[in-house]
Amino acid sequence: DRSYKIAVIPGDGIGKEVMPEGVRALEAAASRFGFSLDLQWHDFANCDYYAKHGQMMPDDWKARIGDVDAIFFGAVGWPDTVPDHISLWQSILQFRREYDQYVNLRPVRLMPGVPCPLAGRGPGDIDFWVVRENTEGEYSSIGGHMFPGTEREIVIQETVMTRHGVDRVLRFAFDLARTRDRRHVTSATKSNGIAITMPFWDGRVEAIGTEYPDVTHDKYHIDILTAQFVLNPQRFDVVVASNLFGDILSDLGPACAGTIGVAPSANINPDGTSPSLFEPVHGSAPDIAGKGIANPVGQIWSAAMMLEHFGEDAAAAGIMAAIEAVLATPEGRTPDLKGSADTVTCGKAISEAIAGA
Ligand code: NAD
Ligand code: IPM
Ligand code: MN
Repeated sequence: DRSYKIAVIPGDGIGKEVMPEGVRALEAAASRFGFSLDLQWHDFANCDYYAKHGQMMPDDWKARIGDVDAIFFGAVGWPDTVPDHISLWQSILQFRREYDQYVNLRPVRLMPGVPCPLAGRGPGDIDFWVVRENTEGEYSSIGGHMFPGTEREIVIQETVMTRHGVDRVLRFAFDLARTRDRRHVTSATKSNGIAITMPFWDGRVEAIGTEYPDVTHDKYHIDILTAQFVLNPQRFDVVVASNLFGDILSDLGPACAGTIGVAPSANINPDGTSPSLFEPVHGSAPDIAGKGIANPVGQIWSAAMMLEHFGEDAAAAGIMAAIEAVLATPEGRTPDLKGSADTVTCGKAISEAIAGA
């Protein structure tokens, strides 16, 4: 019925500054493209909540979020008051696992007019997707810490890869490549050094690759892959990676394309058994929080990905056109892109462009 119920969770730091701009863009798109929104703001999953309650979320958080079409998320973390591994494992990492959002889809695109830190590169040269495994891999709570504080101290943290978990994210990447002109998948590996899990990953890439004879694939070890992102970004189309490698590549890619401040992500449950979550790639940026200068584009582009997920393709395209128009001018861009706009100025300019689309 083109009415969408969305849980809105701003989080900490600049999450609280960019979220209103994301919502402004959503509302502009709703009135321009004729759908309606039921936005449900939640004041948990932030470090102020932790200070009051000793945990990041209420025990019944899942019931409070309820049956929504999606979750719109800002950024969490305030390491001065709550250790990061606690605040993040009790919020975003818990959402990804509890909702089985096993794909973290992160586009990397150099926008027209945006200053590129790589010499001699223009918009067509950087345009690829990072498909990050989002529920297992190097992010595990399996391990131990023994003899703390002694000379015998030892810490162990296991990497977990399941055939089910690896195959499903690989299939998503190959399916995505099928929708692209180049139909190419690059796998991030480290099977020369990480000699159990990564050879397994490589083997699954080969196995799944045979199901897609119309898609080419190759692989790079993660160390040289980071170098290739900088030296030859035009080589990439769909890059599929384990949880940790995908995390690293999805900050590096956007930095090569101008700033991590524009990068969005979709934490997707492709089976539709629970809601997907849309958030910028960046964190709460304590170093600039409170100054009103954070780039809101990562949040707004995440709104576009959410609308595309709903099937509102025209609205998503309208938001993307508005982002491109505003980023093309120094007055529209925030300081991370050598512009003069503050968060609200940039966000309002994008929303006005959406309204006039
Ligand atoms: P960060 O992404 O918050 O910031 C890294 C650098 O990029 C900082 O210099 C920051 O000012 C800049 N930056 C980030 N977003 C920007 C934007 N929109 N506009 C302009 N500049 C921007 O990463 P960090 O400093 O490693 O982490 C800070 C906190 O955020 C930590 O608590 C971390 O755990 C958390 N974090 C949360 C998420 C999330 O909620 N999904 C993601 C990453 C980091
Ligand atoms: C991201 C973030 C998170 C991650 C952190 C905050 C746990 O860096 O979404 O990229 O590592 O997944
Ligand atoms: Mn990250």
